[in-house]
Amino acid sequence: MKVFIGYISLSGNTEKMAVIIKDRLAACGCEVELERLDTIETDTLKDYDLVLIGSYTWNKEELPYEAMEFYEELGQADVQGVKAACFGSDDLSYTDTYTAIDMLLKKMKGHGAYVYEETLKIHQKTTTYNQIKMCENFADQVLMWSNKRKKWRLFSRSRVLNILHYVKSASL
Ligand SMILES: Cc1cc2nc3c(=O)[nH]c(=O)nc-3n(C[C@H](O)[C@H](O)[C@H](O)COP(=O)(O)O)c2cc1C
Repeated sequence: MKVFIGYISLSGNTEKMAVIIKDRLAACGCEVELERLDTIETDTLKDYDLVLIGSYTWNKEELPYEAMEFYEELGQADVQGVKAACFGSDDLSYTDTYTAIDMLLKKMKGHGAYVYEETLKIHQKTTTYNQIKMCENFADQVLMWSNKRKKWRLFSRSRVLNILHYVKSASL
């Protein structure tokens, strides 16, 4: 399975989450590409079986500036049917937490991506065993969800083909 992880990180907290998720998915046999969000072309997202987007949180209802172009481009890009999940880091000392992660998820969903509704959010650094485990579990769950969707799509497709075949032979 081809996976893309795009992230932005100012002080390295979201990047660390991205690396843990990448290592976990790679250990599960995925071919994973990890890149900063501000260097990617949104149209290439549909080339992957699964896309994970990571961001830190920045001010009330605002995206970090490095994510703005990506966010704007999502409006024009073809992300129909792309399977996507979001994660990131925030700081509980702020009153508005996680807005960027939720904004990105909502935007992907609004433009036709299939989103994994649960997001992974960690306050500040990922250092403890539990926090590392949270990232690994998130990777496992997203992968399982994505595989289920794939099987369901194959199943639906073969059912449609069977029905078409039946209709065709019945009309002969
Ligand atoms: C100028 C500035 C504004 C921030 N605004 C928020 C905020 O509104 N809400 C929040 O939860 N965290 C806020 N943070 C904290 C970061 O989201 C947090 O430190 C995060 O762990 C940084 O992740 P990174 O290391 O990947 O950059 C802000 C940080 C900075 C430097």
